[in-house]
Amino acid sequence: MTLIEALNWRYATKRMTGDKVPPVQVERILEAIRLAPSSYGLQPYSVLVIEDAALRERIGPVAFGQPQIVQSSHLLVFAAWNPVEARHVDELTRLMAETRGLEPSELDAYGDTIKGTLDGFATPHERFQWAARQAYLALGTALAAAAMERVDASPMEGFDPAELDRLLDLQSQGLRSVALLALGYRDTGADRHAGLAKIRWPWERLFIPLPEA
Ligand SMILES: Cc1cc2nc3c(=O)[nH]c(=O)nc-3n(C[C@H](O)[C@H](O)[C@H](O)COP(=O)(O)O)c2cc1C
Repeated sequence: MTLIEALNWRYATKRMTGDKVPPVQVERILEAIRLAPSSYGLQPYSVLVIEDAALRERIGPVAFGQPQIVQSSHLLVFAAWNPVEARHVDELTRLMAETRGLEPSELDAYGDTIKGTLDGFATPHERFQWAARQAYLALGTALAAAAMERVDASPMEGFDPAELDRLLDLQSQGLRSVALLALGYRDTGADRHAGLAKIRWPWERLFIPLPEA
């Protein structure tokens, strides 16, 4: 199956069967998340992987009762580091030095550039938004990876982040929830969105080919 076929097959699944996704496939989707690109490669977020049915039951109301929370096999919570700090940058440059066999000092300038970007945000909110944008790249990568596995997925912003952060005690871990992704299998009988034609802007609405100067 090509990527385009997979992207046509997938849809934001609203009703799931509750069947479990085999661990090997979950692992491949998680590995795709791990390999997602991010600004400076900092990956300033964590992904909570929730399989426990009782916990998903408790999260359901926080997401306005969206059934796919409890009907999923796994629920992923994308949570941005909040705040992203200099120590995170140091952790990254240490990993880079170790992985590529460099002297840590060779990465000082790179680390300073990233720290300069962090310092350049006018407010903590802007800094959080930047981290959240990186988390969305991982979310998009996960959606494509799940489709390639023929695993259904439901991305969700429809939840109360402050409530979820309280429920999962995210603040004390320096995290703030950004988006959810339910993984599972479509319940074609119950899901009125199953099989609907895709709505996407036509090429001429989306792409702007510029003539050569
Ligand atoms: C970041 C994000 C948040 C979304 N939040 C929700 C949500 O809370 N509930 C929901 O039913 N669908 C949600 N969706 C699904 C979109 O409505 C859906 O992706 C869009 O309508 C395109 O349809 P398709 O993904 O089925 O092709 C979300 C999608 C994205 C990418």
